Amino acid sequence: MSLDKNLIDNLVNITTDASIACYKYVGKNDKKIADKAATDSMRQNLNNLNIDGKVVIGEGELDNAPMLYIGEKLGTGKGPSIDIAVDPLEGTNFAAKNLPGALSVISIASRGNLFNAPETYMNKLAVGKDIPYDATDLDFSVEKNIKNIADSKNTSPSELSACILDRPRHKEIIDKLIQLKVNLKLLSDGDVTGALLVTEKKYKIDIFLGIGGGPEGVLAASALDAYGCKFQGRFLFKSDNDINRAKKMGIKDLNKKYNLEEIVKGDSIFCATGITTGDLVNGIKLENGKFITETLVTHKNSTINIVKKEVPIT
Ligand code: FBP
Repeated sequence: MSLDKNLIDNLVNITTDASIACYKYVGKNDKKIADKAATDSMRQNLNNLNIDGKVVIGEGELDNAPMLYIGEKLGTGKGPSIDIAVDPLEGTNFAAKNLPGALSVISIASRGNLFNAPETYMNKLAVGKDIPYDATDLDFSVEKNIKNIADSKNTSPSELSACILDRPRHKEIIDKLIQLKVNLKLLSDGDVTGALLVTEKKYKIDIFLGIGGGPEGVLAASALDAYGCKFQGRFLFKSDNDINRAKKMGIKDLNKKYNLEEIVKGDSIFCATGITTGDLVNGIKLENGKFITETLVTHKNSTINIVKKEVPIT
């Protein structure tokens, strides 16, 4: 079933408002306050929508997140039954330190269609739609993925670029990519953006890989679906607590590799508004008494677009 296109405007307004609420804390070196401002705004606006909403990806479990916790019911309860994934402030460090790439992100799908992801890490792989589906796989070696991409593009690994979070846990992968002479884009944070850099040629990224947040993986998958890109993810559980939570969420096979269509089913809408300027969208600008905002919008069944808005400063 398709989602009502009118929801797009509502969601753009919601991430726009959350970004504006967060904006005054950009550069204050306090990621908690910046995150809270975005979260409060997003929750209040979602509660005003005529939807029967349920948070499947949020700020955490009820015991440590009073707002937008997993399972929280949102909306007036009068409209369609919707699953909601939110990251009111993706890139808390970016906002706190006034660095490029802070976003406010949301994705929705019909009830039961967005993966209920635990708050844990996920090993991820994303490639563009120009790469044959079987050429890459989360279970292939880095070398095999790179060689297959190079072959499919009739080029050499030294002409390819890979994007990955710059973390000690990725040393082996990064060393291998260097050995293969692949060009790197090493992210200090923000792997929703990282994954989306495979969507368009202008970003010059051939593969996104490595371990980042599971919730961020589900959000990225929703947008990647609209672009027709490939995404795979496998959750990683560090503690017994993680494992118990995952089991409670209904995950039976803890080692399962999920393909995009198992993470996001059917139609979905994704919105990401820039707080500080990044690769995907510009951040908030102030001009003539207005906030100027940019939101990347993807709706699987209708649009991929950057929506600009002017919001009077009150
Ligand atoms: P926050 O916005 O919650 O700070 O997350 C930023 C982020 O870089 C995500 O984009 C990414 O998925 C995750 O943190 C990686 O986690 P870690 O910093 O532990 O490697």
